[in-house]
Amino acid sequence: MPETLVFYSAFDDFETWRAALNAELPDLDIRRAEDVEDPLSVRYALVWKPPAGFFAPYANLGMVINLGAGVDSLVQRNDLPNVPITRLSDPNMSRMMAGFVLFAVLRYARDIPVFEQAQRDGVWKYVHPRDPKDVRVTVLGLGELGSTAARELARQGFDVTGWARSPKQIDGVTCLSGAETFDDALKAAEILVVMLPSTPQTRKLLGEDQLSLLPAGAKFINVSRGDVVDQPALVAALTSGRISEATLDVFEVEPLPPGDPLWTLPNVLITPHLASIALPASASIQIAENIRRLRKGLDPLAKIDLAKGY
Ligand code: GLV
Repeated sequence: MPETLVFYSAFDDFETWRAALNAELPDLDIRRAEDVEDPLSVRYALVWKPPAGFFAPYANLGMVINLGAGVDSLVQRNDLPNVPITRLSDPNMSRMMAGFVLFAVLRYARDIPVFEQAQRDGVWKYVHPRDPKDVRVTVLGLGELGSTAARELARQGFDVTGWARSPKQIDGVTCLSGAETFDDALKAAEILVVMLPSTPQTRKLLGEDQLSLLPAGAKFINVSRGDVVDQPALVAALTSGRISEATLDVFEVEPLPPGDPLWTLPNVLITPHLASIALPASASIQIAENIRRLRKGLDPLAKIDLAKGY
């Protein structure tokens, strides 16, 4: 009997994923939930935010694959089957994220918002560029995505500090770890890049008190999860100018509701949660590898630790 992988995502194209996965595993039967004829043939679920009760019919499920890097929406559910849960761990996804972070940091480091405004005003406004080594950037969170971004920023010559909950070593990056160094990481951040996963420990971690540790006029970039930040506190800091600019790809509530004060702040760049996306061609290689491992009785790679929440 062929093994079935059931697919669910409102954001990703099923046929593209099916073709990419079948290129790796031609024998795998890949279906949308509504096309599954025999629920007992389903061994794998590749899902992004499936509806409640989604897993219930699949009694022979052997692995859940989160169709994304962040697993917060999955691990908060109370209907998870008792099988290994994995997330995407794809170097191309990390590179795409590092590219977005680099764009956002360079935009500030090279004063682009100043020139955007000057152009609107029809003014030739010269601001002498700074040497990147004098621009202090802090990356909060040094997981796969965070460490790739920190490395890329260091490669561009920025003065990069990285902070993580446990010790890390990255060439060219000053790595801090543990709660006792968290304030120092914030104080060092002319440009702060938030790349922390959303867990019970990190939710609302960046509140008014923490944001006030940033140097006056700091720039704020969030590409991980909106709920790591106290959004009203961020709005207040952006309104007062305490934080001078923000690039926000993620929000407490998505889509960002109409009328939210962030929409009208002139010093905020809003993008609709796409800094990095799941890439079928490269992610399928990792997914197929995990399916092969499971078939051999091995533990999958990039397995979620439910106690840690990521
Ligand atoms: C997107 O936010 C992801 O977690 O992959």
